[in-house]
Order: sequence, then structure tokens, then C-alpha cells
Amino acid sequence: MSTAVHTHVLGEAYKRKEDARFIRGQGKYVDDVQLPGMLYGAIVRSPSAHALIKHIDSSQALQVPGVVTVITGKDLEAAGLNWMPTLPGDTEIVLAVERVLYQMQEVALVVATSRYAAADGVAAVEVDYDPLPVVVDPRKALDPDAPLLRPDKKDKQPTNQIYHWEVGDRAATDAAFADSAVNGVVVKQDIYIPRIHPAPIETCGCIADYHAATGKLTVWLTSQAPHVHRTIFAWVTGLPEHRIRVISPDVGGGFGNKVPLYPGYLCAIAASLKTGKPVKWIEDRSENLSSTSFARDYHIHAEIAADKAGNVQALRVHTLADHGAFHTAAQPRQFPAGLFHICTGSYDFKHALVEVDAVHTNKAPGGVAYRCSFRVTEASFLIERLMDTLARDLGKDPAELRLENFIKPEAFPYRSALNWTYDSGNYEAALKLAMKKIDYAGLRREQAEKRTRGELMGIGISSFTEIVGAGPGKHFDIVGIQMFDSCEIRVHPTGKALARIGVQQQGHSHETTFAQIIAAELGLSPDDVDIEHGDTDTAPYGLGTYGSRSTPVAGAATAMAARKVRDKARKIAAYLLEVGEEDLEWEPGRFFVKGAPDKGKTIQELAFAAYTNCPPYLEPGLEAVNYYDPPNLTYPFGSYICVVDLDRGTGEVHIRRFMAVDDCGTVINPMIVEGQVHGGLTQGLAPAMYEELSYDEDGNIRGGNFQDYLMPTAMEAPRWETDRTVTPSPHHPIGAKGVAESPTVGSPQAIVNAVVDALAHVGIRHIDMPITPEKVWNILNEKGLTSD
Ligand code: CDP
Repeated sequence: MSTAVHTHVLGEAYKRKEDARFIRGQGKYVDDVQLPGMLYGAIVRSPSAHALIKHIDSSQALQVPGVVTVITGKDLEAAGLNWMPTLPGDTEIVLAVERVLYQMQEVALVVATSRYAAADGVAAVEVDYDPLPVVVDPRKALDPDAPLLRPDKKDKQPTNQIYHWEVGDRAATDAAFADSAVNGVVVKQDIYIPRIHPAPIETCGCIADYHAATGKLTVWLTSQAPHVHRTIFAWVTGLPEHRIRVISPDVGGGFGNKVPLYPGYLCAIAASLKTGKPVKWIEDRSENLSSTSFARDYHIHAEIAADKAGNVQALRVHTLADHGAFHTAAQPRQFPAGLFHICTGSYDFKHALVEVDAVHTNKAPGGVAYRCSFRVTEASFLIERLMDTLARDLGKDPAELRLENFIKPEAFPYRSALNWTYDSGNYEAALKLAMKKIDYAGLRREQAEKRTRGELMGIGISSFTEIVGAGPGKHFDIVGIQMFDSCEIRVHPTGKALARIGVQQQGHSHETTFAQIIAAELGLSPDDVDIEHGDTDTAPYGLGTYGSRSTPVAGAATAMAARKVRDKARKIAAYLLEVGEEDLEWEPGRFFVKGAPDKGKTIQELAFAAYTNCPPYLEPGLEAVNYYDPPNLTYPFGSYICVVDLDRGTGEVHIRRFMAVDDCGTVINPMIVEGQVHGGLTQGLAPAMYEELSYDEDGNIRGGNFQDYLMPTAMEAPRWETDRTVTPSPHHPIGAKGVAESPTVGSPQAIVNAVVDALAHVGIRHIDMPITPEKVWNILNEKGLTSD
């Protein structure tokens, strides 16, 4: 008889361990940290989008009670601290010296004994600006008479063009288009994917605490990638990396916003180095929306060539990317436009060509992967929009067209026309499940009937393919550091375990799900495994949490580290049971002798033996570390169907139903996955119908606060319906793929497709996001469809 052990299996809806502190309000965020003698920094920012700085006068600010010092760019230059490397290899200035390049750019730092005194000091700094012409429209950035925005780079970059990048087979793609123009069908669409912002609840901030006596710099940081930030701080400050400790405590949402480095961090470090005191800098909401990294801002022209029957042949895409004042887009160096060339999506295209031109404008820098893997949202939007247009032109149902063109389940691993190797997929199963759950056929009948009565109802589909889990390290890096991830596990003598991971959670539930992975591998209870992260002095080096890479990469490292622990436990069991290792069998939580199930040792007994009765030929202790460089990315997918009703009086779009079928391979915790999907869908609804960071012609930001930047709340979100299929990743140790960003990537186009579908019979082919009531009402008015 086998001894009773806890057998934790993946797929249990285990309650979130982190909720014990969060629901009691006992989380600890950077702004909760109070250090003795701490000073507070506040930043003087440019009111102008493009201007020369003639003079900065700090004298009045220094008179403000409580103000300790004012630091300018020239001060930082003198200290060698006025630069930051950006992720794709540009250099960003910390505090502007000669010129400002966008509204709200950092110009000086006021340091004071309280946050209020620092803010008063900011108001008292006088900066004399000489305005320069402003470039807001990226299409004008390349005009011959456009002002050169980055004269500092003019030797390598004589215009405002940052790069031209292309991938694919131009000749074969052009030939396919020429053929389809004669013998088939070609559809084209211009699409603008507006600039939006991740807008996490907690804004960015840090506390820098430098001790001259020990030479140690501790930085409490709102970071999605603490180790990488530590390395960059070492490069910039010249301090030895082992004397820099980055601590990211609880982080209140990241969504890509907390991956890059921001001037405020370097300002706080410089101020602490200068004053010898801890310096806290926390940005306010307007600073966050106006100066930290935006997302999207892609002007796309896309075309599909298909044969007469609707079989897709080729995809051709040109994109103009607005990167703002600095080239800081979050992406691996090998792929200037990130993973945008996943844009052939779920369909079996023979040929494709993607070109991207990135330009500078007088806007805040960025281009982060907002809940998406480096531009996959833009890619997925364009292909799903165009498939609908193609269906419309062919007179086909959009579901039927998709089913006909999907990559077939037996074609995996599938090499795409743009050179990605999709690991696994079954797109047909996901779409058919979504169609069944929502009664697609019934909805189409209802729509036809309503149309005869003049009612406007639309149905939109999105059958997206995601790409998450960067590395492999040979293709993916951040500032040159290869993208792997890590886990270190220590099993204590009593069989309880502590694991430290290289990724950093910002609401992901890693403390629960990574404990579940270890529990499942070792036959422990998840309660007996604690997970730590976010302290670079203790956690193994990792590349951070973004682009749904935690589960695919650090999750794999965790399973592999647990397996190393289990391998050692097997050796100890063989010694204790006096049999060969090959004579042992594993059941969750226990090794036993083959053919003699009552002769065995539990993992707890083996852990105790590791410290008390270890075989003489083994090192004592039971721990392991794994650094995991994934062999490939994982390719989650899903099919979403959205049903909308349009109000002919107001132009309002009412999302009546939204069915989301996701496939993220093996599910670790279904409750958490569902939560991730709900949150992600709401972040897809946001750009589809509400959010946009726009600028006026003088470069004034029009969405710099939550009154102007319309973020949806639970009130606006529809009742999400979810389901799943399970197609494990063949190369991930537990078959898991990422899930967090799938709903944000997959949902906007389902909503837009639904609204366009409601209006297609009057000739509407596309509406750019956000689909506001005003935009819809104008269309209704133009088409004579408004009701009284
Ligand atoms: O990298 P990031 O943490 O953003 O996202 P992810 O790996 O896609 O997953 C987010 C969370 O969902 C994970 O931390 C897990 O808690 C959970 N998850 C899961 O339970 N099963 C999966 N197959 C994938 C994710």
C-alpha cells in the first residue's frame, strides 16, 4: 500500500496565495516604503513639444522652504549620468540640456524634504524656452523640409527616419499579387492603430538609497525586469553591479509600462549619490500618461491576395511607426518591429512581405509591448480585419472563410511565410467551439431578420494566433542580454520549499501558480512552497515579466528545477531503500520500489534524509537551480465572437455578447487563467471603443489625465463569456503556453469587426479605433440611418 501523499495536479483552481495580503490592503508597494531621512524628488517638465532651452533659473526654487537641491541636465552631465541606453540601442537623455523634444519631457529635478515642498520647488524653477517647429504627424516627419528632431544623431541618421526594415519574399509576394489581380481577388485596407497607454493603477516610481560607507546602492523600483534594470544602473553609474540591489516589491500592474528605464529613476539615483540620502520619486497620473512609454501608434497599409475561391495566397504590409522623440520601443534587437511579422496569423499564406518605417516625432518616446508580445496586437488586428474585408468582397461568411484558410492541425509544427515555427495549434476546434457556444447560426438568422426591420446588429470574429515566451536567447535580447529565465528551489529538512524566480509578478499570481508547478512535480501541497521574486540580491538572474513570457520561460525553468530536485531525491531514495535508481518508480510525492509499492520514501522523508542521512557520495542538501533558454516561442491562440447592437439615435455600441475561447496549452490554474482573460479582454475593449492618446498640432497631449483618457471600468465592460480548448506546447516541459496577453491581442478586432458588420450593408468597410458614439453617429447620419 502506498503512503498517503498530497497529489497536486495541474489544472486545480487553487486559491491565490497573494490575495491574503492584497484583500487586507497589506500589499507593499514602492510608495509604501519609508526610509529614515528620506528626501523627495519632483520633476520640472517641458510645457513645449519642441524648443531650445535658453536658460534654467533655479534660484527661486532654492528659496522654497524644504527644497534641498535642484539638479539640471548640466549637473548630470558633469557627473557622467545624463544618459540612458534604450532597449533597441538608442541613447536617451535623462534631463534635457539644449532642447526639449516633447511636451512633459524631463528638464530638472527638485529635491526636498517633502513631496509638497518638491512640488512647490518645481513651480518656482524658471525655464526660458525658444520654440521650434513641431512635428506631430509621422507622415510629415520625412518631408524634406521637416525639422531634424535628433541633430545629436545626424551622423548616423540624417533624417527623422529611425529605420526601414523589411522581411519576406518581395518577388514571390508581388508575383502572387499580380496573379490575384487578374485571376483572383485583392483586398486593401488602411488602418491606424492609435497611440494608447498601459496606464497601470500604480504609476512608476522608485527610491534610490546610496550609502557612501558601504558603496551600496539599493533601488526600490516599480520594475517588470529588476535584474536588467540593475545591470543598466551599473553601466550608467559605473557602480559595481554586486553593490547594486534592485527590489521590486508588490507592483501594481505593469502591462509593459514598467519594462523601460525612465529618467525619473536615474534622477533619484543621481540625487541620492549627491545628497547621500534616500530619494523617493513617484510620478503622478499625468506624468505617467504623458511621459512614460506609450503603445501602438502604427499606420498600416495591408493587402491580401487570394484566389477566386477565397484561398489566401499572399500578404503585403507597409507600416509607418511613430516612435516619438527617442527610439525606445521595447523589442529585441534582431527584430526592429518586434514580432509584427507574425501578421500572417492563423492562415496558411504562401508568401508575405512586411515593411516597417519608423520615424521620430515630437511626442513622448515608447512603443512598449502593452500586454502584447512586441507588436503582435498590431499584427493580429490587421490580419483579422482584412480577413473580414476579404470575406465581404467574396460574399462569404467570415467564419467560413476562416475555417477554409486556417493552418490545419496536422500541419504543426508549421513554418510561416515570414519564418516563424508555430509549435502547435487547432484553430478550427477553437472557432467551432466559440460558434457553438454563442449559436452563431442563430445569430446570423437574427441579424438578417433585424436588418429587415432596420435594426443594426453586428457579429465580429477574431481567430488570432499569439506568439509568446521570448527567447530563445539566440534571437531575443534586452539591451544585448539574452532572454532566458530562471528558478532556484530549496527544499528544507521538513519538506517545505522556498523557490525564487527570475520573473517579477505585477498581478499575475506567480506566488500561486509557480508553487503549483513545483507541487505537481514534487508531490507537495502548493501551501508548502513559497515563491519569492523581485529582489536581485536573492533571486536568480531573469529577464522579467512581460509579453506573456513568465509561464513559457520561467514556468519551464521552475518545472526543470523541480525535476532536478526530484532526480536528487531519487538518488537518496535508492540509497535509503538499498536498490538501484532504475528500480524505483515515482508517484506524486513518493518513490517506491518497482513491484513493492509499500516499500517507499516520501519526498518529505527524502528531504529530511538529504540533511541528516545523505549518501556519502552526494552533497548534502536538496536544492536546484535552472536557467531555461526555450527552444522556441509558444503560440497560444483563440477564437472570439462579439455581438453588438447599434443605437441609431446616439451611435452607441452595445456589446450584447462576447464569447472568448482561448487555448494556452496546459492550464496551471483555470481560475487564474479566467481572471487573466477577463482583464485582458477589458484591455482590448479599451482601445476598441475608448482610449486614445492624441496630440494637437502644437504637440500638446490630449489624453494626459483620466478625464480625457477614457479608460473603461467594470461599468463599461460587458459580461465576458469564456471557454477553452487545450493544445499543449510540444516543447514546454509541462505543455503550457502564456495566456495573459491573448485576450488583449485578440479582442479589439472582434469588436471592430462586429461594428463594421453591422454597417457593412451600407458600404462601410472599416472604422478606425476607438469606435466612439460620435464616429458611429456620423456614419449613421451620412447614410441616413439615424432614428429620430
Ligand atoms: O508573462 P505573464 O505572467 O504576463 O503571463 P502568462 O505567463 O501568460 O500568464 C499569466 C498567469 O496566468 C501566470 O502567471 C499563471 O498564473 C496563469 N497561467 C496558467 O495558469 N496557465 C497557463 N497555461 C498560463 C498562465
